[in-house]
Amino acid sequence: MNESVSATSWTEKRLLLGVTGGVAAYKAAELARLLTQSGTDVQTVMTESACRFIGPVTFQSLTGNPVFTDLWETNTTNNMAHINLSRNVDAILIAPASADFIARIACGMADDLLATLCLARDCPLILAPAMNRQMWENPATQRNLNLLKGDGVLVCGPVNGEQACGEIGMGRMLEPCELIEAVQGVLQPKLLQGRNVLITAGPTYEAIDAVRGITNISSGKMGYAVARAALAAGANVTLITGPSCLVAPAVSKLLNVISANEMMEAVKKEISQTDIFISVAAVADFRAAKISKQKIKKTDEKFTLHLEPNPDILGYVSNLSKPPFCVGFAAETEDLENNAVLKRKKKKLPLLVANLVQESIGSDESALVLFDDAGKHHLPRAPKDVQAQHLIKYISLAYK
Ligand code: C5P
Repeated sequence: MNESVSATSWTEKRLLLGVTGGVAAYKAAELARLLTQSGTDVQTVMTESACRFIGPVTFQSLTGNPVFTDLWETNTTNNMAHINLSRNVDAILIAPASADFIARIACGMADDLLATLCLARDCPLILAPAMNRQMWENPATQRNLNLLKGDGVLVCGPVNGEQACGEIGMGRMLEPCELIEAVQGVLQPKLLQGRNVLITAGPTYEAIDAVRGITNISSGKMGYAVARAALAAGANVTLITGPSCLVAPAVSKLLNVISANEMMEAVKKEISQTDIFISVAAVADFRAAKISKQKIKKTDEKFTLHLEPNPDILGYVSNLSKPPFCVGFAAETEDLENNAVLKRKKKKLPLLVANLVQESIGSDESALVLFDDAGKHHLPRAPKDVQAQHLIKYISLAYK
């Protein structure tokens, strides 16, 4: 996206920009400028530490609105800045969101104005984390983010790159233009309002014996991101997920399954109420022909494992007499385009989303190519939450 963000989509939208203490606070000034320029009314709230990196006057000048920093602000008529501010906006974007701020809101703390209004909000909350790579990788930060994602908070970024401390790694805040796209996705019209969307996500696990099994490296990140984007677009979302370490989004119905057969049974139960089926799961192609109840003993002999094919869940759905709108995913290691075109035809899918395994599986980002009757459509590398929003928008236009 270039700097000239479409003014029409932003007119009359009101965004609360929360700035917390981090070097990336300087990028928030540019973000405030671009948003204001595109017609968004930006209300800035800063934490005490943010004010050590950049002055409130900068945001006041760029947005034309007073900047709030204090929970005990006496200039608001009812002395309730935290309620007034969060009631009057369409979304809250925290950029940068520091590790400390993420930890505080993950615990539901309300110890300053910005944390209080996040707790008192009745609008979507978007976080743009920015921090040193070790702070990002710390299990405490990851745990906090997973909690927040589970609560429906949208986390955009960070990305890999050079950091202010001189190190290289995960922790760079997304660029202002990328954040604007994420906000735009959240503030989008409710494109799937009232639609029943069924999503499969994660890997499946096919037991071999009491302790061993066949699975794959799918993390569930993309499927969960698609579920969050569908929720944000107003859909009733049912999520059927294989084993994943992630906290699942707060969907209308969550079904945890282990094997492909269990996923198939869950899909069969749900499919008659489904308008749109998005099959993101990396379903194991084969399962053990016989599962041993006992742990198979090690010997010095060669061991042969007999496998039999799993049912093709998406194939089953797309071959129903009245199938829902079916979207498939294809993870390929090579020859992306040919494989995707063949797979779309074979599975009779109106839309197939293809990606390269090495560029996406397990990662927070992906580059996607969408294949439909109109040809192919590239979604260049971006965080999975942003890709999921684009995909949902695309689906809503294709599904009539
Ligand atoms: O055939 P392939 O596994 O490459 O196709 C990928 C697509 O098919 C994905 O959308 C996946 O969720 C779905 N699939 C399925 N059941 C299977 C295998 C794949 O629904 N057994």
